[in-house]
Amino acid sequence: MLKRIVRAGIRYGLRRNRVRRVVEAELANHRVPLMEGAATGQFFVDRYGVNHPLDPDLRDRLKPGWRAMLDPTSAARPPSADELRDRARRAADKVMEAEQVVASLTGRSLAGRLLEIGCYDGAVAFQLARRDRTQVVASDLAQYYVVEQPGRAKEGDLAAQQAVLEALRERTRLTANVPSGAVRFVEDDISASALEPEGFDAVVSFEVLEHVRSPLAAFTSMARLLAPGGVGYHDYNPFFSVVGGHSLCTLDMPWGHARLAPADFERYLTDLRPAEGEQALRFYRESLNRLAIADLRQAVANAGLELVALLPWPDRDLAADLTPQIVSEVQRAYPSATVEDLLATFVSVVVRKP
Ligand SMILES: C[S@@+](CC[C@H](N)C(=O)[O-])C[C@H]1O[C@@H](n2cnc3c(N)ncnc32)[C@H](O)[C@@H]1O
Repeated sequence: MLKRIVRAGIRYGLRRNRVRRVVEAELANHRVPLMEGAATGQFFVDRYGVNHPLDPDLRDRLKPGWRAMLDPTSAARPPSADELRDRARRAADKVMEAEQVVASLTGRSLAGRLLEIGCYDGAVAFQLARRDRTQVVASDLAQYYVVEQPGRAKEGDLAAQQAVLEALRERTRLTANVPSGAVRFVEDDISASALEPEGFDAVVSFEVLEHVRSPLAAFTSMARLLAPGGVGYHDYNPFFSVVGGHSLCTLDMPWGHARLAPADFERYLTDLRPAEGEQALRFYRESLNRLAIADLRQAVANAGLELVALLPWPDRDLAADLTPQIVSEVQRAYPSATVEDLLATFVSVVVRKP
C-alpha cells in the first residue's frame, strides 16, 4: 500500500516540469560509472587475447529485475492487479507519445484499421481500441515466451503459453475497461504475415523490432499490409545499446554482448554462467537480432517504404563510458554498428507506404 502511494507521488511529481528538472539534476550528480567496482580481479579473455575486467554488479545496475527471469516461480507468477494497472498507464503514455510523433511528422492520426505487432498482454492494443472509428488487430508469437522461459523447453509448452497469454489478455482488457471483442488477437509472424494485404492504415510496435529474426522480411510484410499512404511507428531497444542484451544477455562488462564475437559470447555464458547458459543462449540465438541503424535504413528502403524519421534517443551520460576500444571491438564483431548505435538506448522509427 505504502509503495503504491509513494509511486503515485513520484509519478505525479515527474509530470511537473520543475520537479522533473530537479530530479534529473540530482540524478546527474549521482551518476554511477558503468565499471564502478570492477576491481574484482575477474577477467574474461576473448579470442584476440584481450583481458576484459568483469564487474559482477553491472547487470544489477543496468537490468535490476534480471533475477526474476531465471526463477521459474517468479517467471510464471501472473502479474498483480497493481502491476496490470501500472502497465495500462504506461501503455496509455506510449500510445499518446506515438500518436504525437506520427501526427507531427505525417499529419495522420493513429485511428482506423490498426495492427499492433508483438502485443504481449494487449495493454497497448486496448488503449488503441479506445479511439473512435478504430478496429485493432494485435499479433504475437507465443514461441517467444517459450524461448525466454527458464529451464529446458518441453513438448506442450507452446500450447500452455498460448493459454497463459489468453488469460492475461482478458485480465488486461478488464483493467483497461474495454468491451470484449474490441481487439482481435492473432498468432502471426510479421516476417511471414498471413494478414490481409493493404488491410491496415497504421502498423505499430513497441520493443519488438530488436526481436524479429529477419527485419527485412518484417518490413517487407509491413509494406504489404499497409494501405497506400498508411504509416508505421516502431519504438525499440536496439541490440547495440548498453542494455541491448536485455536481462539474460547483459554481461559483466559494458556492451559485452555486442563487443564479443558470437562464439566468445557463447563461451562466456557457458563458462561463467552455467546455471543460466541454456536459457540465455536460446534467447541470444533466437530472440535478439543484430539490427544496426544502417541496416534498419536499408531494410526500410528495400521494402519499398519511405523513411519519414529515424530517431535514435541517445543517453548522453553514456558517452563518458564509451572508449575507442569498446567501439573498435563492437565494429570488429559487427561492422555496420556505429557510435550512434552504442549510445541510443531507444530508437523510434516512422515510415509511410507511398
Ligand atoms: C519484449 S516483448 C514486447 C512486448 C510488448 N510489445 C511490450 O512492449 O510489452 C517482444 C514481443 O515481440 C514479439 N515478437 C518477436 N518476434 C515477432 C515476430 N516475428 N512477429 C510477431 N511478434 C514478434 C514477441 O512475441 C514479444 O511479444
